[in-house]
Amino acid sequence: MAVVSLRNFFVLSLALNVSLILRTINQNEKLQSGALMAVQKGAKVSQMAFLSFPSLSSPSAAAPEIQTPLGSERIINLDHGDPTMYEQYWKPMGDKTTIVIPGWQSMSYFSDVKNLCWFMEPEFAKQIVRLHNVVGNAVTEGRHIVVGTGSSQLYLAALYALSPQDSSNPINVVSAAPYYSSYPLMTDCVKSGLHKWAGDATVFNKDEPYIELVTSPNNPDGFVRHSVVNRTGGILVHDLAYYWPQYTPISTPADNDLSLFTVSKSTGHAGLRIGWALVKDVEVAKRMIKFIELNTIGVSKDSQLRAAKVLEVVSDSCEQAGGLEYAESFFHFSHALMTERWRLLREAVKRSGLFSLPNFSSAHCSFFDNNLGTQPAFAWLKCDRDDVDDCESFLRGHKILTRGGKHFGVGPKYVRISMLDREETYNLFIERLSQIRL
Ligand SMILES: Cc1ncc(COP(=O)(O)O)c(C=O)c1O
Ligand SMILES: *[C@@H]1O[C@H](CO)[C@@H](O)[C@H](O)[C@H]1NC(C)=O
Ligand SMILES: *[C@@H]1O[C@H](CO)[C@@H](O)[C@H](O)[C@H]1NC(C)=O
Ligand SMILES: *[C@@H]1O[C@H](CO)[C@@H](O)[C@H](O)[C@H]1NC(C)=O
Repeated sequence: MAVVSLRNFFVLSLALNVSLILRTINQNEKLQSGALMAVQKGAKVSQMAFLSFPSLSSPSAAAPEIQTPLGSERIINLDHGDPTMYEQYWKPMGDKTTIVIPGWQSMSYFSDVKNLCWFMEPEFAKQIVRLHNVVGNAVTEGRHIVVGTGSSQLYLAALYALSPQDSSNPINVVSAAPYYSSYPLMTDCVKSGLHKWAGDATVFNKDEPYIELVTSPNNPDGFVRHSVVNRTGGILVHDLAYYWPQYTPISTPADNDLSLFTVSKSTGHAGLRIGWALVKDVEVAKRMIKFIELNTIGVSKDSQLRAAKVLEVVSDSCEQAGGLEYAESFFHFSHALMTERWRLLREAVKRSGLFSLPNFSSAHCSFFDNNLGTQPAFAWLKCDRDDVDDCESFLRGHKILTRGGKHFGVGPKYVRISMLDREETYNLFIERLSQIRL
């Protein structure tokens, strides 16, 4: 009896140990595969040019929420223009922009079959027109509005619509350097037979048709721009993502053949992925709509409805500023924030003596009815010292991640720094920058 029970105990203990071992192995595997997945996720994220992290060596670059409490150890990632700064305005707004969408709504592919842009929500279109009228930054009369999944999709739609359909050669696409780093990547992404990236517009001298992208104010340097190529056969696309009062004085309502806008940089709702185009020519609008139809069969209705609500509140805040509902307009708030950020940045740059920033002349802003300066969404910083050739690496050495000049078609002496991050990150950046010594 005793032997049996001892044997039983032995078997039981073995079984227990085996299951213990199995559990341990299993857990290790889970941990390892979890870590592997995180690495792969990081690698995937780094492959996205728009999000490209210059260095993935530190996990905190990919996962900003795991930050060390030590300010000096923290990696400050200002590589992409993620507009999280605007949470500061929208959080206190509480339920003003909350919408409720019952499960049975937004089910159909179609939004408005009477409209050329059949997948555009009428309320969204209404709020676009209203906001442009309130701000005075674009003419909407006689324009076709086309909604897109971000202005990025509309950029591709515009290239598709404007490229000659019957040509044997792809049309040249140019923009004056420094240009938005995504243009070359998006233009050549699918190696289209319709269009190809042809680089810096200021040196374009081919006797061939071309599309010139005019980004005003410009990403990365913030300057107001006009077309630079002076040749026949040119087609213009105006990217006006930053033509809003918090960044630049509104001089006159934009009146172009094709203008692109986005909620990403105007209200800060980049995650909605909503942009719009104002298009003069009906045939161009039709082709852009066709592109979106072939690409994504329309644009998320839920996102359009949220965007419409956000734009409505922005317009309300402008029209009712100083009232009971809105102490100040959205643009007053964001303009004041940008003013303060640029003041701090110029002060820090002056203190360090190693860098320089562009200077902007002031101009009359019709929206604020005042003579105002320019305060771009990005700082286009130059490393002045002769012994610093690569400004991006130099700043990375100080755990500040930026995007180097070569991505924008210029040299490595320049970097682009996002001015739209959260307050805490921005303040840490200013503190870090002020302390840099050679
Ligand atoms: C000049 C410019 N155009 C377009 C975009 C893309 O905007 P969206 O988020 O609407 O796709 C950006 C974003 O950084 C931009 O800087
Ligand atoms: C079970 O594991 C314990 C501790 O690791 C060990 O002392 C014991 O001998 C093991 N039993 C068997 C049956 O392997
Ligand atoms: C553009 O070219 C035309 C004719 O070639 C010339 O008259 C005009 O001054 C040029 N404009 C600019 C801004 O260079
Ligand atoms: C901007 O203005 C300041 C002060 O006048 C000057 O020192 C600096 O060189 C200027 N920067 C550029 C890029 O022109």
